[in-house]
Amino acid sequence: MTIDGDDDLEGLKAIGTIVADVLQAMGRAIEPGMTTRELDELGRAMLAREGAQSAPELCYAFPGATCISINEEVAHGIPGDRQVQAGDLVNIDVSAEKDGYFSDTGASFAVPPVHARTERLCQDGRKALAQGIRAVRAGAPLKGIGQNIERFAIKRGYSLIRNLASHGVGRSLHEEPEMIPTWNDPRDHRRLHEGLVFTIEPFLSTGADFAHESDDGWTLLTRSGILTVQYEHTMVATNRGAMVLTRPTNLESA
Ligand code: CO
Ligand code: CO
Repeated sequence: MTIDGDDDLEGLKAIGTIVADVLQAMGRAIEPGMTTRELDELGRAMLAREGAQSAPELCYAFPGATCISINEEVAHGIPGDRQVQAGDLVNIDVSAEKDGYFSDTGASFAVPPVHARTERLCQDGRKALAQGIRAVRAGAPLKGIGQNIERFAIKRGYSLIRNLASHGVGRSLHEEPEMIPTWNDPRDHRRLHEGLVFTIEPFLSTGADFAHESDDGWTLLTRSGILTVQYEHTMVATNRGAMVLTRPTNLESA
């Protein structure tokens, strides 16, 4: 969507803060032995308390309030009986609706004790997102986002998953512009405009460039041994740059 007045901005800020706070709380609650269903139930309860509804449930009848993906699972993992283990890389994606506005955020969390290479991948995943955000300004070419991210990924020796793109959001979970690449796509001639609401969510990987659908019809996988992180914010394009809407109330460890 494109923001049309203060009501839109207030509505988007409200749901942006909610999904960010839920993501942060779920990340802090991760403990070895916990099932992904238990983690999801925490997120569901928090969303309900805030008067928000899970967007994947609402828009796609996804079997869970949030998507939780571990290790070789890259995205859209279904919460269930899988237990989190020490050393796991757990991605949580929280998207939700309130008062007709949608917001979308995600992050990967390494469960201690963590390999140095996993720790570095997490730090670089956040930096890849920051590099993409730096390219945002009303009037700027949309492909600048992917160019910045790919340049960073190559420099640090990573690949990017190329069948999971960023997207417009706001009145629904996924809307125009669709398929915002987080890799270099010189043929993309679209531009960002003032007030455009969208996500940036690079999937930075230690070797995969494609995620395959698993037999459950939802979970996207790479082969085991490859690790992928995703960090996602929802933002608005303005003349001064990106206004990020998915910062948690408590910015510590955000
Ligand atoms: Co998301
Ligand atoms: Co998204």
